Amino acid sequence: MEKLIGKLQEWGTRQVVVLADSNVAALYPRYFENLADAFPCHFMEIPAGENSKNVENAVRVWERLLELNMDRSDTLLMFGGGMVCDLGGFIAATFKRGIHCVYCPTTLLAMIDAAIGGKTAVNLNHVKNCVGLVRQPDYIMSPDLAFLETLPAEELKSGFGEIIKYALIASFPLFDELRKTEVLSADSIQESWIQKCVAIKNRIVESDPCDYKERHVLNFGHTFGHAIEGYQASLGQSIPHGAAVAAGLLYESELSEKITGLPHDQLLEIKNLVRRHFDVPEFSKELWRKWVPFMHQDKKNKEGKINFTLLKEIGTPVISVYIQDYPF
Ligand SMILES: NC(=O)c1ccc[n+]([C@@H]2O[C@H](COP(=O)([O-])OP(=O)(O)OC[C@H]3O[C@@H](n4cnc5c(N)ncnc54)[C@H](O)[C@@H]3O)[C@@H](O)[C@H]2O)c1
Repeated sequence: MEKLIGKLQEWGTRQVVVLADSNVAALYPRYFENLADAFPCHFMEIPAGENSKNVENAVRVWERLLELNMDRSDTLLMFGGGMVCDLGGFIAATFKRGIHCVYCPTTLLAMIDAAIGGKTAVNLNHVKNCVGLVRQPDYIMSPDLAFLETLPAEELKSGFGEIIKYALIASFPLFDELRKTEVLSADSIQESWIQKCVAIKNRIVESDPCDYKERHVLNFGHTFGHAIEGYQASLGQSIPHGAAVAAGLLYESELSEKITGLPHDQLLEIKNLVRRHFDVPEFSKELWRKWVPFMHQDKKNKEGKINFTLLKEIGTPVISVYIQDYPF
Protein backbone atom coordinates (compact mmCIF):
# COMPACT_ATOMS: atom_id res chain seq x y z
CA MET A 1 0.00 0.00 0.00
CA GLU A 2 2.90 2.38 0.74
CA LYS A 3 4.22 1.99 -2.78
CA LEU A 4 0.79 2.89 -4.15
CA ILE A 5 0.57 5.95 -1.90
CA GLY A 6 4.02 7.00 -3.15
CA LYS A 7 2.81 6.70 -6.77
CA LEU A 8 -0.30 8.76 -6.09
CA GLN A 9 1.80 11.49 -4.47
CA GLU A 10 4.18 11.42 -7.44
CA TRP A 11 1.23 11.92 -9.85
CA GLY A 12 -0.24 14.76 -7.77
CA THR A 13 -3.48 12.82 -7.26
CA ARG A 14 -5.97 14.75 -5.12
CA GLN A 15 -8.70 12.09 -4.99
CA VAL A 16 -9.16 8.42 -5.78
CA VAL A 17 -12.24 6.50 -6.92
CA VAL A 18 -12.12 2.83 -5.98
CA LEU A 19 -14.27 0.77 -8.34
CA ALA A 20 -15.15 -2.71 -7.06
CA ASP A 21 -17.66 -5.38 -7.98
CA SER A 22 -20.33 -6.16 -5.40
CA ASN A 23 -18.74 -9.44 -4.21
CA VAL A 24 -15.30 -7.99 -3.69
CA ALA A 25 -16.72 -4.84 -2.02
CA ALA A 26 -18.66 -7.03 0.44
CA LEU A 27 -15.73 -9.36 1.18
CA TYR A 28 -13.04 -6.70 1.60
CA PRO A 29 -14.72 -3.50 2.83
CA ARG A 30 -11.63 -2.29 4.70
CA TYR A 31 -8.86 -3.24 2.28
CA PHE A 32 -8.17 0.39 1.34
CA GLU A 33 -8.55 1.85 4.83
CA ASN A 34 -4.92 3.05 4.92
CA LEU A 35 -5.27 4.61 1.51
CA ALA A 36 -8.43 6.41 2.61
CA ASP A 37 -6.45 7.86 5.55
CA ALA A 38 -3.95 9.33 3.12
CA PHE A 39 -6.23 10.48 0.27
CA PRO A 40 -9.88 11.41 -0.22
CA CYS A 41 -11.30 8.09 -1.50
CA HIS A 42 -14.74 7.55 -3.04
CA PHE A 43 -16.00 3.96 -3.24
CA MET A 44 -18.17 2.81 -6.13
CA GLU A 45 -19.74 -0.59 -6.61
CA ILE A 46 -21.08 -2.37 -9.67
CA PRO A 47 -22.92 -5.71 -9.67
CA ALA A 48 -20.55 -8.70 -9.95
CA GLY A 49 -20.52 -10.70 -13.18
CA GLU A 50 -19.69 -10.39 -16.86
CA ASN A 51 -23.05 -8.73 -17.61
CA SER A 52 -21.81 -5.60 -15.87
CA LYS A 53 -19.04 -5.08 -18.42
CA ASN A 54 -21.16 -2.74 -20.51
CA VAL A 55 -21.46 0.81 -21.78
CA GLU A 56 -24.27 1.64 -19.31
CA ASN A 57 -21.95 1.05 -16.37
CA ALA A 58 -19.19 3.00 -18.11
CA VAL A 59 -21.60 5.96 -18.40
CA ARG A 60 -22.57 5.65 -14.71
CA VAL A 61 -18.93 5.79 -13.65
CA TRP A 62 -18.00 8.59 -16.11
CA GLU A 63 -20.88 10.65 -14.70
CA ARG A 64 -19.69 10.08 -11.13
CA LEU A 65 -16.14 11.09 -12.08
CA LEU A 66 -17.52 14.26 -13.65
CA GLU A 67 -19.62 14.99 -10.57
CA LEU A 68 -16.48 14.66 -8.42
CA ASN A 69 -14.66 16.96 -10.83
CA MET A 70 -11.87 14.39 -11.26
CA ASP A 71 -9.00 15.69 -13.36
CA ARG A 72 -6.13 14.00 -15.15
CA SER A 73 -3.94 13.91 -12.05
CA ASP A 74 -6.60 11.91 -10.20
CA THR A 75 -6.84 8.13 -10.09
CA LEU A 76 -9.36 5.40 -10.76
CA LEU A 77 -8.43 2.21 -8.90
CA MET A 78 -9.95 -1.09 -10.02
CA PHE A 79 -10.52 -3.58 -7.21
CA GLY A 80 -11.64 -6.96 -8.49
CA GLY A 81 -11.24 -9.54 -11.23
CA GLY A 82 -10.88 -9.22 -14.99
CA MET A 83 -14.38 -7.83 -15.43
CA VAL A 84 -13.68 -4.77 -13.24
CA CYS A 85 -10.18 -4.32 -14.70
CA ASP A 86 -11.43 -4.37 -18.32
CA LEU A 87 -14.38 -2.06 -17.63
CA GLY A 88 -12.52 0.34 -15.33
CA GLY A 89 -9.43 0.39 -17.53
CA PHE A 90 -11.65 1.48 -20.42
CA ILE A 91 -13.29 4.20 -18.29
CA ALA A 92 -9.93 5.51 -17.02
CA ALA A 93 -8.45 5.53 -20.53
CA THR A 94 -11.32 7.52 -22.02
CA PHE A 95 -12.40 9.94 -19.25
CA LYS A 96 -10.88 13.34 -20.10
CA ARG A 97 -8.65 11.34 -22.53
CA GLY A 98 -7.05 9.43 -19.71
CA ILE A 99 -6.79 9.67 -15.92
CA HIS A 100 -4.45 7.54 -13.84
CA CYS A 101 -5.35 3.88 -13.78
CA VAL A 102 -4.43 1.37 -11.06
CA TYR A 103 -5.37 -2.31 -10.86
CA CYS A 104 -5.65 -4.33 -7.67
CA PRO A 105 -6.43 -7.81 -9.08
CA THR A 106 -8.38 -10.15 -6.80
CA THR A 107 -8.85 -13.26 -8.99
CA LEU A 108 -6.07 -15.58 -10.09
CA LEU A 109 -6.99 -14.88 -13.71
CA ALA A 110 -6.72 -11.12 -13.24
CA MET A 111 -3.38 -11.46 -11.39
CA ILE A 112 -1.72 -13.39 -14.21
CA ASP A 113 -3.63 -12.17 -17.25
CA ALA A 114 -6.38 -9.54 -17.29
CA ALA A 115 -4.49 -6.89 -15.30
CA ILE A 116 -1.47 -7.14 -17.58
CA GLY A 117 -1.07 -5.98 -21.14
CA GLY A 118 -3.34 -2.96 -21.29
CA LYS A 119 -6.32 -4.43 -23.16
CA THR A 120 -9.48 -2.69 -21.94
CA ALA A 121 -13.03 -3.17 -23.20
CA VAL A 122 -16.75 -3.36 -22.69
CA ASN A 123 -19.13 -5.84 -24.30
CA LEU A 124 -21.84 -4.60 -26.68
CA ASN A 125 -25.02 -6.49 -27.66
CA HIS A 126 -23.51 -9.79 -26.48
CA VAL A 127 -20.35 -9.21 -28.53
CA LYS A 128 -17.52 -9.69 -26.08
CA ASN A 129 -14.90 -6.93 -25.82
CA CYS A 130 -16.53 -5.14 -28.76
CA VAL A 131 -15.56 -1.58 -27.76
CA GLY A 132 -12.23 -0.86 -26.17
CA LEU A 133 -8.64 0.17 -26.55
CA VAL A 134 -5.14 -0.81 -25.55
CA ARG A 135 -3.75 1.45 -22.83
CA GLN A 136 -1.27 0.31 -20.21
CA PRO A 137 -2.30 0.89 -16.56
CA ASP A 138 -0.11 3.31 -14.62
CA TYR A 139 0.37 0.86 -11.77
CA ILE A 140 -0.56 -2.74 -10.90
CA MET A 141 -0.52 -3.70 -7.23
CA SER A 142 1.44 -6.87 -6.39
CA PRO A 143 -0.78 -9.93 -6.33
CA ASP A 144 -2.04 -10.56 -2.80
CA LEU A 145 -2.47 -14.34 -2.49
CA ALA A 146 -4.82 -13.89 0.48
CA PHE A 147 -7.55 -12.99 -2.06
CA LEU A 148 -7.41 -16.56 -3.41
CA GLU A 149 -8.70 -17.91 -0.09
CA THR A 150 -12.19 -16.56 -0.81
CA LEU A 151 -12.21 -17.24 -4.54
CA PRO A 152 -14.82 -19.84 -5.64
CA ALA A 153 -13.23 -23.13 -6.78
CA GLU A 154 -14.45 -22.63 -10.36
CA GLU A 155 -12.68 -19.26 -10.58
CA LEU A 156 -9.48 -20.72 -9.15
CA LYS A 157 -9.63 -23.40 -11.85
CA SER A 158 -10.07 -20.77 -14.56
CA GLY A 159 -6.87 -19.11 -13.45
CA PHE A 160 -5.06 -22.43 -13.19
CA GLY A 161 -6.03 -23.24 -16.80
CA GLU A 162 -4.33 -20.01 -17.87
CA ILE A 163 -1.22 -20.90 -15.85
CA ILE A 164 -1.05 -24.20 -17.76
CA LYS A 165 -1.33 -22.19 -20.99
CA TYR A 166 1.64 -19.97 -20.06
CA ALA A 167 3.70 -23.05 -19.26
CA LEU A 168 2.80 -24.67 -22.59
CA ILE A 169 3.67 -21.62 -24.68
CA ALA A 170 6.74 -20.47 -22.81
CA SER A 171 8.18 -22.61 -20.05
CA PHE A 172 8.85 -26.33 -19.80
CA PRO A 173 10.23 -25.91 -16.22
CA LEU A 174 6.92 -24.32 -15.15
CA PHE A 175 5.01 -27.17 -16.82
CA ASP A 176 7.17 -29.60 -14.89
CA GLU A 177 6.17 -27.93 -11.61
CA LEU A 178 2.46 -27.88 -12.51
CA ARG A 179 2.56 -31.60 -13.31
CA LYS A 180 3.11 -32.25 -9.60
CA THR A 181 -0.17 -30.55 -8.55
CA GLU A 182 -2.51 -33.27 -7.35
CA VAL A 183 -5.39 -31.29 -5.89
CA LEU A 184 -6.13 -27.68 -6.72
CA SER A 185 -6.71 -25.27 -3.82
CA ALA A 186 -5.73 -21.71 -2.92
CA ASP A 187 -2.80 -23.13 -0.94
CA SER A 188 -1.46 -25.08 -3.91
CA ILE A 189 -1.02 -21.92 -6.00
CA GLN A 190 2.61 -20.84 -5.72
CA GLU A 191 3.57 -17.18 -5.77
CA SER A 192 6.49 -18.10 -8.05
CA TRP A 193 4.02 -19.42 -10.68
CA ILE A 194 2.21 -16.08 -10.67
CA GLN A 195 5.49 -14.19 -11.02
CA LYS A 196 6.55 -16.41 -13.93
CA CYS A 197 3.23 -15.95 -15.74
CA VAL A 198 3.38 -12.16 -15.25
CA ALA A 199 6.93 -12.10 -16.63
CA ILE A 200 5.92 -14.22 -19.64
CA LYS A 201 2.91 -12.03 -20.43
CA ASN A 202 4.92 -8.80 -20.00
CA ARG A 203 7.62 -10.08 -22.33
CA ILE A 204 5.10 -11.09 -25.01
CA VAL A 205 3.09 -7.86 -24.74
CA GLU A 206 6.24 -5.74 -24.98
CA SER A 207 7.14 -7.43 -28.26
CA ASP A 208 3.69 -6.74 -29.76
CA PRO A 209 1.57 -4.38 -27.62
CA CYS A 210 -1.27 -4.06 -30.14
CA ASP A 211 -1.69 -7.78 -30.88
CA TYR A 212 -0.60 -7.89 -34.52
CA LYS A 213 1.59 -10.99 -34.41
CA GLU A 214 3.73 -12.25 -31.50
CA ARG A 215 0.92 -11.64 -29.00
CA HIS A 216 -1.13 -14.28 -30.84
CA VAL A 217 0.79 -16.95 -28.90
CA LEU A 218 -1.39 -16.01 -25.93
CA ASN A 219 -4.35 -17.43 -27.86
CA PHE A 220 -3.15 -21.00 -27.50
CA GLY A 221 -6.16 -23.02 -26.31
CA HIS A 222 -8.50 -20.10 -26.93
CA THR A 223 -9.51 -20.79 -30.55
CA PHE A 224 -11.43 -23.85 -29.41
CA GLY A 225 -12.04 -22.30 -25.98
CA HIS A 226 -13.89 -19.24 -27.30
CA ALA A 227 -15.81 -21.37 -29.84
CA ILE A 228 -17.01 -23.68 -27.06
CA GLU A 229 -18.11 -20.68 -24.99
CA GLY A 230 -19.87 -19.17 -28.03
CA TYR A 231 -21.64 -22.44 -28.84
CA GLN A 232 -22.84 -22.86 -25.25
CA ALA A 233 -24.02 -19.25 -25.15
CA SER A 234 -25.99 -19.80 -28.37
CA LEU A 235 -27.87 -22.58 -26.53
CA GLY A 236 -28.59 -20.15 -23.69
CA GLN A 237 -26.22 -22.12 -21.46
CA SER A 238 -22.89 -21.15 -20.00
CA ILE A 239 -19.67 -23.01 -19.43
CA PRO A 240 -16.97 -21.79 -17.02
CA HIS A 241 -14.26 -19.98 -19.00
CA GLY A 242 -11.62 -22.21 -17.43
CA ALA A 243 -13.36 -25.40 -18.53
CA ALA A 244 -13.65 -24.15 -22.11
CA VAL A 245 -10.00 -23.07 -22.22
CA ALA A 246 -8.85 -26.36 -20.67
CA ALA A 247 -10.67 -28.25 -23.44
CA GLY A 248 -9.05 -25.88 -25.95
CA LEU A 249 -5.58 -26.56 -24.53
CA LEU A 250 -6.12 -30.28 -24.91
CA TYR A 251 -7.58 -30.23 -28.45
CA GLU A 252 -5.01 -27.73 -29.70
CA SER A 253 -2.26 -29.93 -28.26
CA GLU A 254 -3.72 -32.87 -30.17
CA LEU A 255 -3.72 -30.71 -33.31
CA SER A 256 -0.12 -29.77 -32.54
CA GLU A 257 0.92 -33.42 -32.57
CA LYS A 258 -0.65 -33.83 -36.02
CA ILE A 259 0.42 -30.56 -37.61
CA THR A 260 3.44 -29.02 -35.93
CA GLY A 261 5.10 -32.17 -34.58
CA LEU A 262 4.48 -31.94 -30.81
CA PRO A 263 6.16 -35.13 -29.51
CA HIS A 264 3.67 -37.84 -28.50
CA ASP A 265 5.09 -38.23 -24.98
CA GLN A 266 4.61 -34.48 -24.38
CA LEU A 267 1.01 -34.71 -25.61
CA LEU A 268 0.38 -37.51 -23.10
CA GLU A 269 1.85 -35.38 -20.29
CA ILE A 270 -0.40 -32.44 -21.26
CA LYS A 271 -3.48 -34.69 -21.38
CA ASN A 272 -2.59 -36.11 -18.01
CA LEU A 273 -2.32 -32.70 -16.36
CA VAL A 274 -5.42 -31.20 -18.00
CA ARG A 275 -7.65 -34.23 -17.38
CA ARG A 276 -6.57 -34.43 -13.74
CA HIS A 277 -8.17 -31.04 -13.10
CA PHE A 278 -10.79 -30.64 -15.83
CA ASP A 279 -13.49 -32.83 -17.26
CA VAL A 280 -12.85 -32.66 -21.02
CA PRO A 281 -14.87 -34.74 -23.52
CA GLU A 282 -13.03 -36.80 -26.16
CA PHE A 283 -12.81 -34.91 -29.43
CA SER A 284 -15.15 -36.00 -32.22
CA LYS A 285 -16.30 -34.98 -35.68
CA GLU A 286 -19.68 -34.13 -34.18
CA LEU A 287 -18.15 -31.66 -31.72
CA TRP A 288 -16.06 -30.11 -34.50
CA ARG A 289 -19.22 -29.55 -36.54
CA LYS A 290 -20.89 -27.78 -33.61
CA TRP A 291 -17.93 -25.53 -32.82
CA VAL A 292 -16.48 -24.77 -36.24
CA PRO A 293 -18.99 -21.98 -37.16
CA PHE A 294 -17.89 -20.15 -34.02
CA MET A 295 -14.22 -20.59 -34.85
CA HIS A 296 -14.92 -19.03 -38.26
CA GLN A 297 -15.92 -15.79 -36.50
CA ASP A 298 -12.43 -15.26 -35.09
CA LYS A 299 -10.96 -11.86 -36.06
CA LYS A 300 -7.56 -13.43 -36.78
CA ASN A 301 -8.77 -15.77 -39.55
CA LYS A 302 -7.75 -15.33 -43.20
CA GLU A 303 -9.44 -16.40 -46.45
CA GLY A 304 -11.97 -18.56 -44.62
CA LYS A 305 -9.26 -20.50 -42.79
CA ILE A 306 -9.05 -20.69 -39.02
CA ASN A 307 -5.94 -19.22 -37.45
CA PHE A 308 -4.46 -21.41 -34.71
CA THR A 309 -1.47 -21.06 -32.44
CA LEU A 310 0.01 -24.54 -31.99
CA LEU A 311 3.04 -26.07 -30.31
CA LYS A 312 6.22 -27.52 -31.77
CA GLU A 313 7.05 -28.71 -28.30
CA ILE A 314 6.18 -27.59 -24.78
CA GLY A 315 7.54 -24.05 -24.49
CA THR A 316 7.84 -23.50 -28.26
CA PRO A 317 4.69 -22.11 -29.88
CA VAL A 318 4.03 -21.67 -33.60
CA ILE A 319 1.70 -18.83 -34.62
CA SER A 320 -0.44 -18.43 -37.75
CA VAL A 321 -1.24 -22.07 -38.54
CA TYR A 322 -4.28 -21.92 -40.85
CA ILE A 323 -6.73 -24.84 -40.93
CA GLN A 324 -9.85 -25.23 -43.03
CA ASP A 325 -11.09 -28.82 -42.85
CA TYR A 326 -11.64 -31.36 -40.08
CA PRO A 327 -8.08 -31.88 -38.91
CA PHE A 328 -8.18 -35.30 -37.20
N1 LIG B 1 -7.65 -7.55 -20.59
C1 LIG B 1 -7.18 -8.75 -20.75
O1 LIG B 1 -6.06 -8.96 -21.25
C2 LIG B 1 -8.00 -9.92 -20.30
C3 LIG B 1 -7.43 -11.20 -20.25
C4 LIG B 1 -8.21 -12.25 -19.79
C5 LIG B 1 -9.53 -12.03 -19.42
N2 LIG B 1 -10.04 -10.77 -19.49
C6 LIG B 1 -11.42 -10.51 -19.07
O2 LIG B 1 -11.52 -10.79 -17.70
C7 LIG B 1 -12.84 -11.19 -17.38
C8 LIG B 1 -12.78 -12.46 -16.58
O3 LIG B 1 -12.04 -12.20 -15.41
P1 LIG B 1 -12.28 -12.99 -14.08
O4 LIG B 1 -12.21 -14.44 -14.35
O5 LIG B 1 -11.37 -12.42 -13.05
O6 LIG B 1 -13.82 -12.71 -13.77
P2 LIG B 1 -14.62 -11.70 -12.83
O7 LIG B 1 -13.92 -10.42 -12.68
O8 LIG B 1 -16.01 -11.68 -13.33
O9 LIG B 1 -14.55 -12.46 -11.41
C9 LIG B 1 -15.12 -13.73 -11.28
C10 LIG B 1 -15.96 -13.85 -10.02
O10 LIG B 1 -15.10 -13.87 -8.89
C11 LIG B 1 -15.58 -12.90 -7.93
N3 LIG B 1 -14.38 -12.49 -7.16
C12 LIG B 1 -13.37 -11.71 -7.56
N4 LIG B 1 -12.40 -11.70 -6.64
C13 LIG B 1 -12.82 -12.46 -5.63
C14 LIG B 1 -12.25 -12.88 -4.40
N5 LIG B 1 -11.01 -12.52 -4.04
N6 LIG B 1 -12.96 -13.68 -3.60
C15 LIG B 1 -14.22 -14.09 -3.97
N7 LIG B 1 -14.80 -13.78 -5.14
C16 LIG B 1 -14.09 -12.98 -5.94
C17 LIG B 1 -16.22 -11.85 -8.75
O11 LIG B 1 -17.13 -11.09 -7.97
C18 LIG B 1 -16.91 -12.68 -9.81
O12 LIG B 1 -18.13 -13.17 -9.32
C19 LIG B 1 -13.58 -11.33 -18.69
O13 LIG B 1 -14.36 -10.19 -18.90
C20 LIG B 1 -12.45 -11.39 -19.71
O14 LIG B 1 -12.87 -10.89 -20.97
C21 LIG B 1 -9.31 -9.73 -19.91
